[in-house]
Amino acid sequence: MTEIRMFSAKSYDRVGFDAANADHGHDIVYLEPRLDCQTVGLAAGAEVICAFVNDDLSEPVIDALAAGGTSVIALRCAGFNNVDLDAARRHGMTVVRVPAYSPNAVAEHTLAMILALNRRIHRAYNRVRDGNFSLDGLVGFDLAGKTVGVVGTGKIGAIVARLLWHLRCRVLAVDMFEDEHLLGLGVDYVDLATALSDSDIVTLNCPLTDDTHHMIDADSIATMRRGVMLVNTGRGALVDTAAVIDGLKSGHIGSLALDVYEEESSLFFADRSEEIIDDDVFARLLTFPNVLITAHQAFLTDEALSAIATTTLANVAAVTSGEPCDNVVA
Ligand code: NAI
Repeated sequence: MTEIRMFSAKSYDRVGFDAANADHGHDIVYLEPRLDCQTVGLAAGAEVICAFVNDDLSEPVIDALAAGGTSVIALRCAGFNNVDLDAARRHGMTVVRVPAYSPNAVAEHTLAMILALNRRIHRAYNRVRDGNFSLDGLVGFDLAGKTVGVVGTGKIGAIVARLLWHLRCRVLAVDMFEDEHLLGLGVDYVDLATALSDSDIVTLNCPLTDDTHHMIDADSIATMRRGVMLVNTGRGALVDTAAVIDGLKSGHIGSLALDVYEEESSLFFADRSEEIIDDDVFARLLTFPNVLITAHQAFLTDEALSAIATTTLANVAAVTSGEPCDNVVA
């Protein structure tokens, strides 16, 4: 039996992990705090820690984990941009992740955001409940016939592209690897500059890397169609938020949907409704009627949570017993 200390644990994590653990019998300790320099002491003595997207796995935290005896970091997410892999390697730590749990969950949320934002569902919902049945300001556009740029056509982006193609959009894909099925549908692979200049909607579905950091900045926004809808369900720092706010203020960006935000780690996954939000950039985003934000919930379906738990515990079982594991982050 392996002890696993799970950081940033929520009630929905517990449901999935307790069910999946029936096959393993690990001793899972659910810890509410986010992992960072202040909380890392909670991991002391545990061989395995389990972390999520906004846990801090920078060098000092990894140094402290190693000093406390941790040798396995089990990420219960796909992205690993929050992990200092060099530091982990230096300490001989194994990092495992869940490369695919439900690409449908994230792709469907991306589509939901596009549809809701376009048809102003977020505004209509509040208006109708308030007895305001005016339609002013709720004009959307037909998706059929519009051009959508999908940046990143891996597991998630390929589904996003397919869903939009089925809604009769023209899809421009950007990726160094072309998806045969998308090509068969008639999706055109183009370079990023073409996708940005020719699209009515741009959705970001690529990972955050040094190359993709702030791929949407003031310069790239200037090349986009006036009134473009920008959608980011990838990682917050794919977009330079200050530049996007300028784009919204000038009207160059017509609408914005975000499930991720570059400074989300100090905001998301907690009830802050009684607090004063001291992030002025985020607070400014909330003032725009044409901005729709969800708090990193694209992954949040029953199927995804179950798959995350099953794969994470299988990863832990494999690496702690010295068996091969395909989900080790190289
Ligand atoms: P994936 O690895 O299957 O696909 C990523 C694709 O992006 C690959 O085809 C890759 O070649 C492409 N890519 C890399 N750099 C690129 C660039 N500069 N330009 C264009 N394409 C580029 O990953 P998957 O599963 O599709 O996930 C994509 C991202 O979605 C993850 O890295 C993660 O950041 C994000 N994500 C967000 C979630 C949420 O809840 N909002 C949940 C899960 C993932």
